[in-house]
Amino acid sequence: MALTAETESRLYRSLRAAAGAAAHLVALGFPTAVAVLARPGSSLFSWHPLLMALAFSFLMTEALLIFSPETSLLRSFSRKVKVRVHWALQLLALLCALLGLGIITYNKHLNGKAHFVTWHGLTGLLTVLYAGGQCMGGVLLLYPKLMKNWTLAKLKLYHATSGLVGYLLGCASLMLGMCSLWFTTSVTSVSWYLAMLCPLLTSLVIMNQSWIACSVLSPGSSYDAHDTERAGATHLMPASVGMLPSTGLIWRRQDRSCHIPGEKGRESPLTQEAAAGTALPLVLRRQLGQ
Ligand code: HEM
Repeated sequence: MALTAETESRLYRSLRAAAGAAAHLVALGFPTAVAVLARPGSSLFSWHPLLMALAFSFLMTEALLIFSPETSLLRSFSRKVKVRVHWALQLLALLCALLGLGIITYNKHLNGKAHFVTWHGLTGLLTVLYAGGQCMGGVLLLYPKLMKNWTLAKLKLYHATSGLVGYLLGCASLMLGMCSLWFTTSVTSVSWYLAMLCPLLTSLVIMNQSWIACSVLSPGSSYDAHDTERAGATHLMPASVGMLPSTGLIWRRQDRSCHIPGEKGRESPLTQEAAAGTALPLVLRRQLGQ
C-alpha cells in the first residue's frame, strides 16, 4: 500500500518526535548514570567524567535540541529566547568542559602520569579546544555586523556545520572515555553497550536536525516544498519560498534573499497577501483548507 505524501510526512515527524524524546531522556540519563558510578567527591578524578558528561551529554545536547521543531522544550517561545538559552547553555557546557579538563590534567600531574597519551586524552583535548573556538564563532552570529562581507545565512550555515562537527567530536570523546580501564572495569557486557548507545543516539538525532537546517541554508540546495513540510513549517508560504522553523528563516529560492524574523529592516517580510497569489504546495493547501 502506497503512503500519501501527507501520511508519510506525519509518520516522519512522529518518528522524529519519538527520537527527540529519547534524546532528551538520554541527555539527562547518561550524566546521572555517570554520577552514580563516579560518586563525585569521592576523589579528584571523580569530577572529570561527571563534568564532561554534563557538558557534552546534557548541556550541549539540550542547547541544540532547543531548535528542534518537534521536541524543543521551548517550542512555544520566540526564536530570540531560544537563541539566548542556546548560547547560555553552550557557555555553561564550555565552563564545565574547561573545569573537567583542568581537573583531569591536575590529577594526572599529581600522580606523575604522562599527559595526552591516549586516544581519549588527545580527542578530548581537541574537543575542548574546538568547543572554545565554536563559542567564539557564535559571538559573530550575535554581532553579524563584525563580518561585513558575510550574509547572516552564510554565517548560520558555517556555525551550524562546524557546530555539528564539534558535537560529534564530543560524542567521540565520551565514547573513548567509556573505553578507559576505569569505566570498563565497573561497566561490563550489556550495560557497556547500552552506555555506548547513548552518545550514538543523540548524535544521530542532532545530525538529522542539523542536516535539515544546513539543507535550507546552503546555496544551490535542492530544498523544496516537501522538505518545508518535513521540517515542520507552519507558516503560509508559496512553493518558491523555504522556511525553517528551527532557524526562523524564510528563504526565497529565486534570488536567495532571506527574511529573518525579528531582524527588522534586513529584508521585507513575506506577507500573507504576497503568498496568496502563488500556487501553494498541496500539503499546505490542505492545512489551510483550500
Ligand atoms: C567529551 C567528554 C570528555 C572529554 C573532552 C575528556 C577529556 C579528557 C582528556 C583531555 C584527558 C587527558 C588529560 C591528560 O592527559 O592530561 C582525559 C583523561 C581521562 N578521561 Fe576523559 N574526557 C571526557 C569524558 C570522559 C568520560 C565520560 C570518562 C569516563 C567514562 C572519561 C575518563 C577519563 C579517564 C579514565 C582519563 C585518564 C586516562 C586517559 O588519559 O585516557 N573521560 N579526558
